[in-house]
Amino acid sequence: MNERDTLKINSRGHLEIGGMDTTDITVKFGTPLYVFDERHIRDMMSVYRETIAKEYEGNGLVLYASKAFSCTAIYAIAKQENIGIDVVSGGELYTALKAGFPAEKIYMHGNNKLVNELEFALESKVGTIVVDSYREADLLDSLCSAKKVKQDVLIRINPGIEAHTHEFVQTARTDSKFGFSVADGTASEITAYILSKNNLNLKGFHCHIGSQIFEKQSFVLAVNKVMDFMADIKKTLKYEAATLNIGGGFGIWYNSEDPKLKLNDYADYLKTLIKAVKIKSKENNLNLPYLVIEPGRSIIGEAGITLYTVGAIKEIPGVKKYVAVDGGMFDNPRYALYQSKYTALLANRACEPCTEKVSIAGKCCESGDLIAVDVPLPKAESGDILAVLSTGAYNYSMASNYNRNFIPPAVLVKDGKAEYIVKPQNYEDLVRNDVVPEYLK
Ligand code: LLP
Repeated sequence: MNERDTLKINSRGHLEIGGMDTTDITVKFGTPLYVFDERHIRDMMSVYRETIAKEYEGNGLVLYASKAFSCTAIYAIAKQENIGIDVVSGGELYTALKAGFPAEKIYMHGNNKLVNELEFALESKVGTIVVDSYREADLLDSLCSAKKVKQDVLIRINPGIEAHTHEFVQTARTDSKFGFSVADGTASEITAYILSKNNLNLKGFHCHIGSQIFEKQSFVLAVNKVMDFMADIKKTLKYEAATLNIGGGFGIWYNSEDPKLKLNDYADYLKTLIKAVKIKSKENNLNLPYLVIEPGRSIIGEAGITLYTVGAIKEIPGVKKYVAVDGGMFDNPRYALYQSKYTALLANRACEPCTEKVSIAGKCCESGDLIAVDVPLPKAESGDILAVLSTGAYNYSMASNYNRNFIPPAVLVKDGKAEYIVKPQNYEDLVRNDVVPEYLK
């Protein structure tokens, strides 16, 4: 099932996560429910941290890209694991600070950071801000000037590589809303511009080439492109970048089409990347940069599952069979958005052979509200517990209250015990911010 023992089928024939029987979890916490295995999360954070320590003399930092899953508990774990985080909004920043996360280890991203988000970042003394527009450079510089502070920044550049799950493309295209293109010269122009700002301290460059990437070569290519750019900037602007942030993007297992990677494999991704950095530094006569990576999905994705209760079952003879669950696109919009493929199983009958192909439907008033299409399952019955695997990343963080459904709560499993890290919502939560104007009463 999973080499890291996050998931197991126990002697009762039930799915277990982090040493806990999922059916026991649902008795205590109900469904729908996100469940996370703490050990898996910590293992992933530490494999990256230790690889930088061992292979790069600790001259770098792992950031957990918290857009993958943001809540106070995850920042508390990241803090204990002694890694940094990346945040992309005032909301993520607020959540991290609320959890006591050290501001100096926070990198703030965003292609259109709001004035109040930049002010908030400065007030909280966020370590590094990744600048992604001229407007932001101007705004940040004047806010810093008013506050009499100097802010460490990186510039987001676009090295012209787009990577996807099983492929990457090199392109000189510059149609991304992110970053400044190396190919068309805008990356060097913004570099000169930021260097001219009195209140911005340019530490280096950032790039992120995509997500759910398995090909090592795409990361090597990104390193090569950015480090050639760094060499070019050193020559033309007499500026040598101290920091190289290569972003996130390592892939995870969702279904039979994906490789199942072990901890060692993730260490290997990083080792390959580090090797490329060392080679390029030598070749381009640059000092070894402080190396930052920002994995999100690979840290949290396989650590999480979603548990549902099967409700209505509907067969359209000769066409399709729907198994409906008590969740849907409001807790996992990834099929609706990207046709992402998930693995599902009956958690309470995990040993039984799959005898049919079904589509797992949610409970929203929308035909596209599906979690998985034509996936193998034993003959499901109402009341069965259905588990969807690898839902730790970009599920809760992309959830909504569509149809005024509750965003499911989340629990963290550790040492055979489960505890809430996100409590259940109630009806009152749904109307908390609603107002009926006087004239409508
Ligand atoms: N750094 C930056 C600047 C990013 O934009 C991202 C992801 C990451 C790091 C983390 O990448 P990861 O290691 O998680 O692949 N909602 C989509 C994924 C969007 C990813 C956006 N950026 C999904 O559900 O697949």
